[in-house]
Amino acid sequence: MTTRRDFLKISGSAGALLATVPWFSAFSDSNNTIGEKARIGVIGPGSRGQFLMSFMVKNPKVEIVAICDDYQPSIDEALKLTPKAKVYTDYRKLLEDKDVDGVVVTVPLNMHHEIVIASFEAGKHVFCEKALGITPAECLNMYDTHKRTGKVFFVGQQRLFCDRYIEAMEMVHAGTFGEIEGIRTYWFRNGDWRRPVPSPELERKINWRLYKEYSRGLMTELACHQLQIGTWALKSIPNKIMGHGAITYWKDGREVYDNISTIYVFDNGVKMTFESVISNKFYGLEEQILGNKGTVELEKGKYFYETAQPAPGFLQLVNDVENKLFDAIPFAGTSWAPETANENKGDYITGKRPKTDGTSVLLEAFAEAVITEKQPGNIAEEGYYASVLCLLGHQAIEDGVMLDFPEEYKLDYLNHKRAVTTEV
Ligand SMILES: NC(=O)c1ccc[n+]([C@@H]2O[C@H](COP(=O)([O-])OP(=O)(O)OC[C@H]3O[C@@H](n4cnc5c(N)ncnc54)[C@H](O)[C@@H]3O)[C@@H](O)[C@H]2O)c1
Repeated sequence: MTTRRDFLKISGSAGALLATVPWFSAFSDSNNTIGEKARIGVIGPGSRGQFLMSFMVKNPKVEIVAICDDYQPSIDEALKLTPKAKVYTDYRKLLEDKDVDGVVVTVPLNMHHEIVIASFEAGKHVFCEKALGITPAECLNMYDTHKRTGKVFFVGQQRLFCDRYIEAMEMVHAGTFGEIEGIRTYWFRNGDWRRPVPSPELERKINWRLYKEYSRGLMTELACHQLQIGTWALKSIPNKIMGHGAITYWKDGREVYDNISTIYVFDNGVKMTFESVISNKFYGLEEQILGNKGTVELEKGKYFYETAQPAPGFLQLVNDVENKLFDAIPFAGTSWAPETANENKGDYITGKRPKTDGTSVLLEAFAEAVITEKQPGNIAEEGYYASVLCLLGHQAIEDGVMLDFPEEYKLDYLNHKRAVTTEV
């Protein structure tokens, strides 16, 4: 497990981080909270919930005091991680439990809103997995209820706590790669995204991701993480959104698309794209930030300059041969030669191959915030906008239109101002 301490070894002092990464303020009091514990209840400890628990049980500042699930196999598995936790089958009972300071909500997407609102109203701090809600209106209501109740609100966007993402963003913001002209994100897989179902009546409960009643499919499950990269890099929110989705391969009764492309356009015309096909995995997943002086590939954790030093040895020879070969092909007159992709191997952002995705540090930050009862900067807003962007992408696909970012869903954050103040 990568800890905050490991992270600081890589990324320098906490003070330096705070200037550029406001959500690291969660760690400002960490020396004063030694010996204290965040008492956590996990609601919906299925696959993701158990993964998060596997980090929390190793954190001396966390005690998982309760779990709640309406599916016995999930309870049985979760109890293997926390045998002493109280068990509830109704989340409202867990929320009445005075021993619970904060909740980690890992139920399917359609249940996030109801449970998160009830948690805030019960006086609990909340960590909710992404995406926040299943509609932008739900997300706004969750954000507003967090503000009104003053309870801590974290969203499961682990890249915000990942060393290579943070360092890359510092380079982007320092202008290392020049002007950012495009963001390309994609997530390719080859698999049906199904989980085995013990009996047919459990199909929708287990495979909730595949049905629109519970999920927005690839947009909420995958795009939500990747779209956040663009707004983080550009420090602004796109204003126009368009896309297309279809079921082209997995025609197995699912309702969510297996083939999606979306385009998000920023005020200056720069575009961010998200693409996902789950019947070909050749390109895997990546988030690419394209500047006029260089490129970052965040999943790989590498950066590349446009004017790279010549690649050594054989690679250079191949490049030279290819270029001279293309130069010699008179397809469209003597001045034209096809562009060949840059084969330079680039450099690791942190100096080494990535090992972690930020989840453990994110959970440490949540525990600190629950103990101190202080909301760290910008994290709720980042989680909110990532959620709303993926949901607007879904809406643009469903309606077959190019959407303008609706005024009513803008917060006072980045380049947007709150248009309407809703009373909750
Ligand atoms: N941040 C990430 O990278 C990441 C990765 C995977 C999943 N997730 C998110 O985690 C969430 C859960 O995904 P998952 O794959 O663990 O799903 P899952 O189906 O494995 O687990 C959901 C659990 O919630 C339980 N549940 C459903 N309704 C409930 C209710 N009313 N009360 C109590 N328990 C209830 C289910 O029985 C199940 O145990 C989703 O929001 C998903 O988007 C995030």
